[in-house]
Amino acid sequence: MPVTSSVGKRPEGVLLLFEARFDRFFNALARNQEEFKHLPATPCASIPAHKIGSPALPYLYLRRGCPASHDAGGARVGAALAPGTACGHSPMVAVAAKACATCRFAYIRDRHSPQTNGMTYIDAAVAPLRKTGQIKIYGDNAFAAMRKAGRLVAECLDMLGPEIAPGAPTSRIDQLVFEFAMDHGALPATLMYRGYTKSTCTSVNHVVCHGIPNEKPLKDGDIVNVDVTLIVDGWHGDSSRMYGVGTIPRRAERLIEVTYEAMMRGIAAIRPGGTAGDIGEAIETFVKQHNMSVVRDFCGHGLGRLFHDEPNIVHVGRSGEGITLKPGMLFTVEPMINLGRPHVKVLSDGWTAVTRDRSLSAQFEHTVGVTETGVEIFTLSPKGLDKPHYESA
Ligand code: MF3
Ligand code: CO
Ligand code: CO
Repeated sequence: MPVTSSVGKRPEGVLLLFEARFDRFFNALARNQEEFKHLPATPCASIPAHKIGSPALPYLYLRRGCPASHDAGGARVGAALAPGTACGHSPMVAVAAKACATCRFAYIRDRHSPQTNGMTYIDAAVAPLRKTGQIKIYGDNAFAAMRKAGRLVAECLDMLGPEIAPGAPTSRIDQLVFEFAMDHGALPATLMYRGYTKSTCTSVNHVVCHGIPNEKPLKDGDIVNVDVTLIVDGWHGDSSRMYGVGTIPRRAERLIEVTYEAMMRGIAAIRPGGTAGDIGEAIETFVKQHNMSVVRDFCGHGLGRLFHDEPNIVHVGRSGEGITLKPGMLFTVEPMINLGRPHVKVLSDGWTAVTRDRSLSAQFEHTVGVTETGVEIFTLSPKGLDKPHYESA
């Protein structure tokens, strides 16, 4: 989910380094993206791996012609990498890519042709593939595509259930999601998104969102949110659920119940002619009744062929305020609810958001579309596994 009010900018002209383990991913991208095919994928070690900076950021973006800076973590490197610089003993792979100011993958997909080039067939084909400052209204074909993407995400989250158990590290969850995506002709939307290098976000206990999968084993009593976004035929399905690890404490169970119910009440408030504030109010009032708090710093978002688009869907508010909901709008509802105070901070990895008071946090997310009569949820579990069943009573 995006930060509530700001959108980052990617510098013009970037060179990507990424790990060879993403080979399958880039092959999948190449199969999906005609315009990706011409880009070289040259093994490159003109920057030694140990100089690449934070191990949490195993690849970099370099400004072309800017020898000593990159925007992926503050580490400095000695020399600019020319696109296609060859060597062969590094675990990294370099890919020259075009700039993208606004959205994910564009630097790989080259979605955004330089302004100076005028219109090309790519521009015409992908004209909606950028933020336009307006809320896009989609038709039947988009709804059908979103149904397909949403269903695959739900099936992926269903698949994870039995895998999430004491001893399993979140990196295992990430690997399973990656494999699932590859096996189903989908792309994990978070991989390479704004410097993120995993196929999921896994947020454990007091982590609010954007937890980075790691090798630490989950332990009995943990709660974890797994957030999966898959791109299917170019369309994004985005959903997350809570999973209990073994037997969880009663207060964790209550938090999960309230969070799920809050999301569903938010979704139930959606109707054409209503407003985004209806969603926020439904969520906020319900959560307050249970003496829990709604996170303000992250919000739901429009999506479709973009991962994060207009409108922002804030999970607090007043009925009647905010944008008017219209048939054809696509967005997520993804409230983050804390047992304690609503405040969060982002750790130094630049992603992991945690509760400031270290209280437990939970989140559920569905992707929905506004219909003529109400709302359609695209990411419902075909098996009815939308919320966890508990081992404790
Ligand atoms: N899936 C998250 C959402 O609900 C976004 C994660 S972006 C990442 O919007 F880069 F952190 F993975
Ligand atoms: Co989302
Ligand atoms: Co998500």
